[in-house]
Amino acid sequence: MRIGVIGIGRMGRAIVERYASHGYEVFGWNRTAKKIKDLNISNFMALEYPRDVCEKADLVFVALSDIESVKEVFHQENGLLDGLRSRNIILNITTITPNAAIEFSKEVASKGAIYVDLPVLGNPTKIRRGELPMLFGGEREVLEKIRDTLMVLGKKIIYVGEVGKASALKLIFNMVLPSIVVLLSEALNIGRKAGLSDELILEALMESPLSAAIERYYDRITHPNPPASFTMKLMLKDLEYLTRMTYDLGIPTFIPPVTKELLKSAVANGYSSVYYAKIHDYLKKLSGLM
Ligand SMILES: NC(=O)c1ccc[n+]([C@@H]2O[C@H](COP(=O)([O-])OP(=O)(O)OC[C@H]3O[C@@H](n4cnc5c(N)ncnc54)[C@H](OP(=O)(O)O)[C@@H]3O)[C@@H](O)[C@H]2O)c1
Repeated sequence: MRIGVIGIGRMGRAIVERYASHGYEVFGWNRTAKKIKDLNISNFMALEYPRDVCEKADLVFVALSDIESVKEVFHQENGLLDGLRSRNIILNITTITPNAAIEFSKEVASKGAIYVDLPVLGNPTKIRRGELPMLFGGEREVLEKIRDTLMVLGKKIIYVGEVGKASALKLIFNMVLPSIVVLLSEALNIGRKAGLSDELILEALMESPLSAAIERYYDRITHPNPPASFTMKLMLKDLEYLTRMTYDLGIPTFIPPVTKELLKSAVANGYSSVYYAKIHDYLKKLSGLM
């Protein structure tokens, strides 16, 4: 199978590298062409339009920022919809709302091609190592047809059901992580103000049922220069989409909106492109600790 990648940012680039290094022919497009013009990856070819990618490839990953960017790439002149063939399978890894996934799948189906709702639970490093967990929303037969090719990216594919359900599950997943990061940050900041060392706070928290998460996140939130593998702006977008989903479901939600507003405030204060766990630094500033 020939692979296409539309949107060669952090995630898209890791997908390109992984497949190319496994001998697949890979075709890609990025809005800012100069970012990929000089990519020196054997088996990879940069193309001029999203349309060209669909024409050259069978499986086409879409790895864009948000709903608006996917809409734009679908509908622009020489865009994705212009190039679709019945052999194309569109794998959208962009984190979006369930309703948006359903709309995109209808548009793809109207061209006789197949859409898969494929949000993912890992970062570019996991892709490069072939350890990316994926959530699959779409026809089970499609999954079986492409399973081996998808497994180049990761060891685990969770079959969630029809299109839209995988996006719902992804938003639930991303609701939990930032709230844990905020809670841990606040615990550390309160402790520091109370004259307790990080070591003591951690020693006590490690006795709690959250020890695994605390161990994993402490290093990330206190690291002076973590790589911006997942930015504050993207995490804010995911919580905004969760809010839309819960509105559509008519269900009240209490903790995520607080986390979302905190991230919004950090983004408005210059943290847009930094690693999302650096919300810790922003909270330190608000607490007079920085
Ligand atoms: N990074 C992670 O760890 C991670 C993990 C799981 C899920 N995700 C999700 O995966 C998606 C991609 O994340 P990422 O980290 O790869 O983001 P990223 O590095 O910011 O890349 C975003 C990509 O979208 C393109 N884009 C943005 N607006 C566009 C528009 N209007 N038209 C055309 N292209 C546009 C950008 O093109 P330009 O280069 O031209 O700006 C770039 O190729 C997001 O939905 C994110 O939530 C990310």
